[in-house]
Amino acid sequence: MIRKITYGTPFDTEAVTGVFEEWAGELPYFTQEEGRKFSYTMEEEDIVYGLGENVRGINKRGWIYESKCSDDPNHREDKRSLYGAHNFLLVDGKECFGVFFDYPGKLVFDIGYTDRNVMTVEAEEGNIAVYIMEGENPEMIVKQFRGLVGRSYIPPKWAFGYGQSRWSYMNEDEIREVVKKHREAGIPLDSIYLDIDYMVKYKDFTVNEETFPDLAGFAREMKDQGIHLVPIIDAGVKIEEGYDVYEEGVKNGYFCKEENGEEFVAGVWPGRVHFPDMLREDTRKWFGGKYKILLDQGIEGFWNDMNEPAIFYSEKHLKEVFEKLEDFKGINLDNEASASLHQLVDGLSNNEEDYKLFYHEHKDGRVRHDKVHNLYGYNMTRAAGEAFEELEPDKRILMFSRSSYIGMHRYGGIWTGDNLSWWSHILLNLHMMPSLNMCGFLYTGADLGGFGADVTEELLMRWLELGIFTPLMRNHSAWGTRRQEVYRFTQTESFRRIIELRYALLPYIYSEYMKAALHDEMMFRPLSFVYPSDRSARRVEDQLMAGESIMIAPVYEQNARGRYVYLPERMKLVRFRGPEDRKEEILEKGHHYVEIALDEVVFFIRPDHLVPVSRGGQYVEQVDFDHLGLLGFVEESASYELYDDDGYGKDYENPGNYTRVYVNKNGGVSSTGTDGKTFALL
Ligand code: GLC
Repeated sequence: MIRKITYGTPFDTEAVTGVFEEWAGELPYFTQEEGRKFSYTMEEEDIVYGLGENVRGINKRGWIYESKCSDDPNHREDKRSLYGAHNFLLVDGKECFGVFFDYPGKLVFDIGYTDRNVMTVEAEEGNIAVYIMEGENPEMIVKQFRGLVGRSYIPPKWAFGYGQSRWSYMNEDEIREVVKKHREAGIPLDSIYLDIDYMVKYKDFTVNEETFPDLAGFAREMKDQGIHLVPIIDAGVKIEEGYDVYEEGVKNGYFCKEENGEEFVAGVWPGRVHFPDMLREDTRKWFGGKYKILLDQGIEGFWNDMNEPAIFYSEKHLKEVFEKLEDFKGINLDNEASASLHQLVDGLSNNEEDYKLFYHEHKDGRVRHDKVHNLYGYNMTRAAGEAFEELEPDKRILMFSRSSYIGMHRYGGIWTGDNLSWWSHILLNLHMMPSLNMCGFLYTGADLGGFGADVTEELLMRWLELGIFTPLMRNHSAWGTRRQEVYRFTQTESFRRIIELRYALLPYIYSEYMKAALHDEMMFRPLSFVYPSDRSARRVEDQLMAGESIMIAPVYEQNARGRYVYLPERMKLVRFRGPEDRKEEILEKGHHYVEIALDEVVFFIRPDHLVPVSRGGQYVEQVDFDHLGLLGFVEESASYELYDDDGYGKDYENPGNYTRVYVNKNGGVSSTGTDGKTFALL
């Protein structure tokens, strides 16, 4: 049973939808001060998991983190927060429990930073709801937690295909060219993302008619080639007379206001904007309804951005800075003076003080933004999700967001924001997968190849070798950086083959995703969850269990041509070049150095496990999910429960979506369940 302990009068974040018991007794495990500071003494062996999207390792011990949704493109080790606020922790060691701090403002998690063996969680003020989960093992705890916060978002099947994105696809022709190059080279592709450049002056729900003269026609043309267009939507609404979204928002009072009742003005891409008050139901309904403008043009997916919300400057602060700049004119800019000049100007963007300047009209009363800061992106995406339920009740719409709070996982996935073309960010991508899964975010992935900085061919290739396993598989990069569509490099053939492998693995990836979503489970697990009594496995931070049958161990170092891999049990190593082109080798439990050529995808199959694979295709709809091959490591006998459905509708509970396939010791294959599915052991 999940216990809820309440301090003060917590804000209702609506993160929790499940069952719990109101607990009047003491908070177990922790000592607490003033109902806002909680401490737990860790044993040397304790591992602390959680925090979803954040820096550093899978085991969060040894650093200090903050829940403070931040637009920060420098995901360095010394940062404390990224775009999301995911306040779930799981302690596994002397004690085994999970804890969710449901609190919409800033939280500081000092997990052995000030004192190596002490974890403290501190809220800015009281008014916090703490949920405690206990269970036999981490997986049971996660399952309970996920039951508490509700089913994870399920995207359409095509969203498991490969997506190409770039901030600066300026017009239809440029996109046609990108698609053509992929198709000519036989590189599978399912989606092209439209970044802010498709809009008129960065105004939400507008389309630039000079560069995209007929979006509906273009969407149709693309769809005929198996491509979905996925436009971006930003949080801020441009202030401009005559722009209907702005005018309607002002007329109906939908925008966030300052204390004096005037609309708060911030600067983002379009210049001066207002922020819709996403914490209000009527605003959500209005803003969500706007997605219809694009849905009506044949669009079936979106990404929500800048919804921390990102603030380049507030009008008020900008004015102050301009005034202060006067003081610098004509003075000798020595060390101190030039530092304060920089500080003055740099302090304009994403300044926490600005979050104190505006308010939300929530159903429970007026609340200053900073106190509920972490709920903004969540509610923007909820606005869209709720609208999709009404507008397209029987259809799945792709949606993922940059900012998030637990609860948002019911309405969309997330991408992990503006990473860099750095080797360390491949590993960071891997670290975040299980942490995010615990918190309910299953549809997730990083900007493959890196968003900022210039990519190299080798980095992109290695990153894709991880990316073929992540549900969201999107290559995205920033304006001004080296272009990184895979066909631009010398080893196009290798890229094609690697991406083809994703399509070959789709039956497995989709099935594992859907089972994780439908049963409140994780798709990516740390090795320690599966091999809890293996002391070495417990410490592995650069390998993951990807679904029930596979372990992955990607290369994330420049010029490496292999890596050390720890096998917690005897496994089958598969050098995967395609369903019919692969090399296999049985490796014993223990440490191994495994050679992995630059263009090689290697994974490991657990004993008596199976991996269903297809023959691939140029896009998801072409993939045959009915006639499947089976990769397996069968010592005694193995079985696999395959989930499959039409990929568009929502008939998730239909028992006909499940097929069980069995392979016996002699390689005999049989199956029960859906008619029409055939399996052949490869
Ligand atoms: C933000 C997003 C990025 C996007 C850019 C322009 O930085 O995180 O993905 O490309 O804005 O819209």
